[in-house]
Amino acid sequence: MRAMVTGGAGFIGSTLVDRLLAEGNTVDVVDDLSTGSLSNLAGARASAGHQLTVHQMDIRSAEVVDLIVRRHPEVIFHLAAQADVRRSVADPVFDADVNLIGTLRILEGAREARSDRVVFAASGGTIYGEPDPSELPLKESLPRRPLSPYGVSKNAVIDYLVAYRELYSLEFAALALANVYGPRQDPHGEAGVVAIFAERLLRGEPATIFGDGEQTRDYVYVDDVVDAFVRAATKGGGLICNIGTGHETSVNTLYGEMAAQAGVDPQVDFKPLRPGELLRNCVDPSRAGIQLGWTSWTSLGDGTAAVLASVRKRQALGDG
Ligand SMILES: NC(=O)c1ccc[n+]([C@@H]2O[C@H](COP(=O)([O-])OP(=O)(O)OC[C@H]3O[C@@H](n4cnc5c(N)ncnc54)[C@H](O)[C@@H]3O)[C@@H](O)[C@H]2O)c1
Repeated sequence: MRAMVTGGAGFIGSTLVDRLLAEGNTVDVVDDLSTGSLSNLAGARASAGHQLTVHQMDIRSAEVVDLIVRRHPEVIFHLAAQADVRRSVADPVFDADVNLIGTLRILEGAREARSDRVVFAASGGTIYGEPDPSELPLKESLPRRPLSPYGVSKNAVIDYLVAYRELYSLEFAALALANVYGPRQDPHGEAGVVAIFAERLLRGEPATIFGDGEQTRDYVYVDDVVDAFVRAATKGGGLICNIGTGHETSVNTLYGEMAAQAGVDPQVDFKPLRPGELLRNCVDPSRAGIQLGWTSWTSLGDGTAAVLASVRKRQALGDG
């Protein structure tokens, strides 16, 4: 397969690039390196040779359309985004610029290049809004009612994908991701609670928990998520599906289990719940099972152990 990965220098994107290269595909990465880093692609660049080309480019630029036409990828994995919910609230114009205008550039490129398919990283944590507890785990059939500009822009992209499929037969899959975690996640970002806890625990620093810590999320390991992207490159037409575990874990439970794994006494600094933070979130992955033959296989304990090991290694090297 000739693949393009937008956001390929980011946390999930670079893990996807590694997997695509390992399977013998040719990969073009498009990334402006605003939150991603070439260091995430160091291994790939060292071993892939001509199979990997990295283009430092903003997806909002008109040149990205020409690039897609020139490289004519069969499949575009579209992960580049303004991915920070709080930033989207503070600056919704910037969020829409990257997530809507940038996405339209990618779709226009895909249309002109006659790409077969776009696989999009949607957000299961925001597009359904604050659910009624009786609706958990959330199914794709629920109304989508995002409560943040980020959720609105991610949701609108799904509508664009449906329209491009109707208009131009551009096939798509939109994967509504739960809380993805794993090595390479930015410990300074707002969403990477597993990465943040790992950093703090291994430095012997207290963790900050907002609210009473009983809020829940659905934590899904990055390798499992990448497997769903790869499957969605060839299976399912016009597919909108959740990618998560279907299990809720509270922040307190997550922190307690990670502290035990790290062999460190838990130290928590509780702060008031941040406005707009969802109390519960968890997505039902049954459709992904049926349509993609996908299920998450990494247990939370195995996944957090992998994150702790990678942070320990990085700290030992004196990097961050
Ligand atoms: N991490 C999660 O839990 C999660 C959950 C749901 C959805 N997602 C989505 O998955 C995708 C990847 O997220 P991630 O966690 O790997 O984040 P990330 O910030 O590590 O990756 C995003 C990448 O996009 C690049 N980028 C941003 N703006 C760009 C622009 N204008 N032009 C070109 N490149 C640009 C960044 O440099 C970065 O490499 C995003 O679309 C995000 O919204 C992530």
